[in-house]
Amino acid sequence: MSHANTIAVRVSAIHQRTPLIKHFVLVPVAGGSLPAFSGGSHIIVVMRGAGRVHRNPYSLLSPPNRLEAYEIAVRRMEVSRGGSAFMHEQLRVGSELEITHPVNLFNLDKLARKHVLIAGGIGITPFMAQMEDLHGGTVPYELHYSVRAPEHAAFREQLVGRHGARVSMYYDSAGEECDLGALLSNQPLGTHVYFCGPAGMIDKVVATARGAGWSESHVHWEQFSAPPVGDAFEVFLAKSAVRVSVPPDQSLLEAIEGAGVDAPYLCRGGVCGECRTQVIEVDGELVHNDHFLSADEKAAGRLIMPCVSRAHCTKLVLDL
Ligand code: FES
Repeated sequence: MSHANTIAVRVSAIHQRTPLIKHFVLVPVAGGSLPAFSGGSHIIVVMRGAGRVHRNPYSLLSPPNRLEAYEIAVRRMEVSRGGSAFMHEQLRVGSELEITHPVNLFNLDKLARKHVLIAGGIGITPFMAQMEDLHGGTVPYELHYSVRAPEHAAFREQLVGRHGARVSMYYDSAGEECDLGALLSNQPLGTHVYFCGPAGMIDKVVATARGAGWSESHVHWEQFSAPPVGDAFEVFLAKSAVRVSVPPDQSLLEAIEGAGVDAPYLCRGGVCGECRTQVIEVDGELVHNDHFLSADEKAAGRLIMPCVSRAHCTKLVLDL
């Protein structure tokens, strides 16, 4: 994708939705409308901090038919490499940011006879926009939304007010849990299930759906991994003839960009495959943190996803 093509936006409102989640309203600096999108789309927010640029993906949660503003919600991470801390601490009403055009890697299936949406925590955000797309339509849908306690249930009132009994809440603090086995065993033919939330819950939904005989094509999930911290290492970019040092708290992709080399990306969360890069040489171990490469590809060690993956080595040469 072209990264030159960003949109300048201004923060027009900030709401503290839960102890950990802030909700931001972004309007175009140039006025007018923002580009159209469909429920499930995300943008990359470019944050220019002191000496460091962060680019983080966030799902658009605002109604897709309202293009005068985009809305996103950001959970403050306990171990932040800087992006969520920047959004929580540095942004004020009136701050300006750059964002990329929306991309949808988490589409609702147009032929589905029913949609079952399962959210964990901040994973609610893509469903906010998707449920707006579904509201008033003829295809049935339902949301199962799990949070650790009522005070962490961002947007609950808004969702229940808009979608009523289609919303089921589950609170860990009350010992409540969505019975995935029962939920996924009792759906009409043609139902699609969508999940967004923590990694452990994604594994559980995928395993439960498989166990209940669901076709892979009817099971959809999204999880943007935050690039993990790790040991520092060095990389040589063969095509660009540039040597790059990757510090412990920066991703390989961020370090490449910091060295002035334009590398491809869409999700920056190990999901889309856009940043897949050939490994020309490595004398140690690649640390794969993506959800894109197959187990065989990871074991072969010829490919790496620089948005989330790292290396333990003294020599790494990439085809970039
Ligand atoms: S940018 Fe999507 S997997 Fe790396």
